[in-house]
Amino acid sequence: MIMQCFQWSILMLVLSSFLFVSLIINCFTTGRAKRPNIIIFYADDLGYGDLEPYGHPTSSTPNLGRLAAGGIVLTQFYSSSPVCSPSRAALLTGRYQMRSGVYPRVFNVEMSGGLPLNETLISKMLKPEGYRSAAVGKWHLGLGNNSVYLPHNHGFDEFLGLPASPSQCRCSVCFYPNVTCHRAPCSPEYSPCALFNGTTIIEQPADLLTLDDKYAMQSRRFIRTNVETGTPFFLYYASHHTHHPQYAGKETSGTSIRGRFGDSLAALDWEVGQIYEELKENGILEDTFFFFSSDNGPSLSLENFGGNAGLMKCGKATTYEGGIRVPAIVHWPGQITPGRSMELSSTLDVLPTIASITNAKLPNVTLDGYDMSPFLFQGMPSLRESFFYYPSKVDTEHKSYAVRYKQYKAVFYTEGSALSNNKNKDVDCRGTSLRTYHDPPMLFDLEQDPSEQYNISINHSPERDIILKLTKMRADFDAKMVFAPSEMNKPRDKNLMPCCNRGCSPYPSCCHCISSAPRANNDPLALYKKPMEKII
Ligand SMILES: *[C@@H]1O[C@H](CO)[C@@H](O)[C@H](O)[C@H]1NC(C)=O
Ligand SMILES: *[C@@H]1O[C@H](CO)[C@@H](O)[C@H](O)[C@H]1NC(C)=O
Ligand SMILES: *[C@@H]1O[C@H](CO)[C@@H](O)[C@H](O)[C@H]1NC(C)=O
Ligand SMILES: *[C@@H]1O[C@H](CO)[C@@H](O)[C@H](O)[C@H]1NC(C)=O
Ligand SMILES: *[C@@H]1O[C@H](CO)[C@@H](O)[C@H](O)[C@H]1NC(C)=O
Ligand SMILES: *[C@@H]1O[C@H](CO)[C@@H](O)[C@H](O)[C@H]1NC(C)=O
Repeated sequence: MIMQCFQWSILMLVLSSFLFVSLIINCFTTGRAKRPNIIIFYADDLGYGDLEPYGHPTSSTPNLGRLAAGGIVLTQFYSSSPVCSPSRAALLTGRYQMRSGVYPRVFNVEMSGGLPLNETLISKMLKPEGYRSAAVGKWHLGLGNNSVYLPHNHGFDEFLGLPASPSQCRCSVCFYPNVTCHRAPCSPEYSPCALFNGTTIIEQPADLLTLDDKYAMQSRRFIRTNVETGTPFFLYYASHHTHHPQYAGKETSGTSIRGRFGDSLAALDWEVGQIYEELKENGILEDTFFFFSSDNGPSLSLENFGGNAGLMKCGKATTYEGGIRVPAIVHWPGQITPGRSMELSSTLDVLPTIASITNAKLPNVTLDGYDMSPFLFQGMPSLRESFFYYPSKVDTEHKSYAVRYKQYKAVFYTEGSALSNNKNKDVDCRGTSLRTYHDPPMLFDLEQDPSEQYNISINHSPERDIILKLTKMRADFDAKMVFAPSEMNKPRDKNLMPCCNRGCSPYPSCCHCISSAPRANNDPLALYKKPMEKII
């Protein structure tokens, strides 16, 4: 009798431990799709202080608010560069922009260079795992001759968008129904904005007032089609908002009390809402890792028509916090605990994180990122303890301008920029504040002083030891940084500009074709016209 009970107990013990082990395994595996969908939604020149969840008093961003409420809001997240092209290259490759030659400054459509085709982007990394990838919106990683640098040669199955920013082409109407662009920041020396579908120009000039509709429609189709065929997908949606020229179509023009910048921001929020609704309608929010961020800080030179860095110093094109500390939201219901995270992280970390959650093989190259999983999913500290600040005009002589280690930032070089406004009341931000070397470096405690106001660089312990440590970290990192030849310095040719009508004259204004894309008055979103859910 006793023996029997004992045997039973053993059996129960074996069974229950088996059950226990499988439950444990379950904890780690079920509820997480084996191949989660990936969405990167990238805003343009959106500052740290621009969004409602980051404290802006008059922005209206209900969809981003909903994303933030259900996700993790990152407060110490850095872009790898204070300007567009380099930060995009780093996001998609997990490598500092110098390694791929995407420096100094940004691409324009008469350059023959581009993000080299032997770089492995997230799209290429995910291909062997069976993912389909689409790029929508602003590319800005080069066009080159015969569109060689567009997304189709970088592992993307679809592309709908402009090769560069609308500020790098002619434009006239920016707000519905017929308001010209403010501060006329469009460039008449270039051809009209060319909307590409794949490698074909389908509209030139691109109609800014219906552009977001087309992007949203294409993205929603892409998502829906993949759901129908059971294919995991990667959507890289790089919005033009809130870069100048500010624009807004029918849905959002004139809707914000924050003026025209607010309208452009409302358009950004509308785009986020479109994607979110499609995920929701298809019941795949919990199978989708949704990452939102911005490429760099706000263009303060546009004053009321530019963004806001909140309590960060200066803005775009500087290595002050306002230039590269950006808003970032990670949304993945069921996998993350909604809230706020002060862990240190960067756009450089996005590729390794995606590799980790999809089990994709990391590219066999020097990467600069860390997997964010420990702090996003496991409540552990971030693997990243340091960050190196490289300027827009980076060169092999000056290299990094500053280094952050834990809460400390040691600043070796400072430099203002016209993009941070030559009339800025903080003189340091102005373009007239030329590159200055600091010896000893300035030292800031960013946890106590995120606005970089108080230089605590004192020549005794413990600050002196911190300075010595950071100085060595910077020297070691810079010594190992390999600069690929600059893609920006390759030859330029006006004939490389996108033109639907090549050979026409007078060039380039003659690059003007009738659209084959859905028109505004056809209501391209009719398919999806459902009242948006009210968000509280
Ligand atoms: C790409 O090719 C260039 C030129 O051959 C080479 O210098 C570079 O290291 C290559 N990059 C990668 C990531 O393989
Ligand atoms: C682009 O490539 C074509 C074909 O290879 C060549 O004929 C043309 O001259 C090139 N254009 C420019 C501007 O380099
Ligand atoms: C837009 O407004 C301008 C100036 O008011 C006018 O000349 C132009 O004809 C208008 N265009 C349309 C399509 O209404
Ligand atoms: C990774 O690249 C290095 C050098 O480029 C090469 O020697 C090595 O075999 C590669 N490893 C794999 C797994 O491909
Ligand atoms: C920062 O503080 C140190 C120590 O007081 C000083 O030597 C240095 O000049 C300061 N740097 C600047 C730019 O004010
Ligand atoms: C782009 O091309 C695809 C494939 O041909 C097509 O399904 C889609 O409707 C096109 N998008 C636009 C906006 O024309």
